[in-house]
Amino acid sequence: MKVAVLGAAGGIGQALSLLLKTQLPAGSELSLYDVAPVVPGVAVDLSHIPTDVKVKGFGKDDLSDALQGCDIVLIPAGVPRKPGMDRSDLFNINAGIVKNLVEAIADNCPKACIGIITNPVNTTVAIAAETLKAKGVYDKNKLFGVTTLDVIRAETFVAEAKGLNPANVHVPVIGGHSGTTILPLLSQVEGVSFSEDEVSQLTHRIQNAGTEVVEAKAGGGSATLSMGQAAARFCLSLVAAMKGDNVVEYTYVETNSDDATFFAHPVRLGKNGVEEILSYGDLSDFEQKAKDDMLDGLRNDIKIGVEFVAG
Ligand code: NAI
Repeated sequence: MKVAVLGAAGGIGQALSLLLKTQLPAGSELSLYDVAPVVPGVAVDLSHIPTDVKVKGFGKDDLSDALQGCDIVLIPAGVPRKPGMDRSDLFNINAGIVKNLVEAIADNCPKACIGIITNPVNTTVAIAAETLKAKGVYDKNKLFGVTTLDVIRAETFVAEAKGLNPANVHVPVIGGHSGTTILPLLSQVEGVSFSEDEVSQLTHRIQNAGTEVVEAKAGGGSATLSMGQAAARFCLSLVAAMKGDNVVEYTYVETNSDDATFFAHPVRLGKNGVEEILSYGDLSDFEQKAKDDMLDGLRNDIKIGVEFVAG
């Protein structure tokens, strides 16, 4: 299994690369690419950890080399939020970065599964899809928006609120990855019931958890460590599925539903990426209204991505 991290010298990239170096199956390879000159150093640093995962760093002119033979490419390259910014404020810089990196993936490892972390995910996934289509290599089963951070936050906050061990709490989170497009399905959490106030407060906290971190870091960036963990969980699930395990993760993928072209669903992963997009089941009245209210915004985020590539 060969995994590339594009943007590997950043806050997310370094945390993610560390987790992959220690947790990928023996015999795997990790390819670290960044435009920042420190990236070969990050690779040397990680290479001193005694696991059977080969790590190699690639500087800004070596993107093609970094991508050769990759099965999975994760993209956390780009600028993060500062206080007062919305994820959509990142579009002007990050849209071009994602487009260029995905073009290189299309040219060098067109069959790889791609996990987009760079915000605004609602839009950057659509940019990636249109870029791959323009290159004639789009496979909707191999493109994912990584929304796992919303899931792990929801698990943590529900466990905290109910005094449970977070390891035993599973919270479906559907929709997109910004503000009200993040829709936790608290009505489906097994063995737990919530008052109306709890539903409203927990939903609000899950939707705004990214801003909680941005404000606490006070200009020093957004979530990097929890995101590194979330992306590692997603990547390791994909690796396990590619090796034949039965794995379901919530992730933002192209769907055939009436909701939106891209929507986070429970997805059964397999050897070739998406094996089956599962139904997210019945929604409570609160969740149904929250979904109805956010769909136009999500569809518009996707449209902005499509138009960006169309020019
Ligand atoms: P960071 O600034 O610490 O790191 C970004 C890295 O990307 C830097 O090392 C930079 O040199 C690199 N980079 C910039 N342009 C590049 C290019 N063309 N090719 C390769 N590398 C390039 O930022 P951080 O905190 O790691 O965040 C990265 C992105 O992830 C941001 O867009 C942020 O909004 C997003 N994010 C996504 C989350 C999600 O749940 N999907 C959660 C948190 C952040």
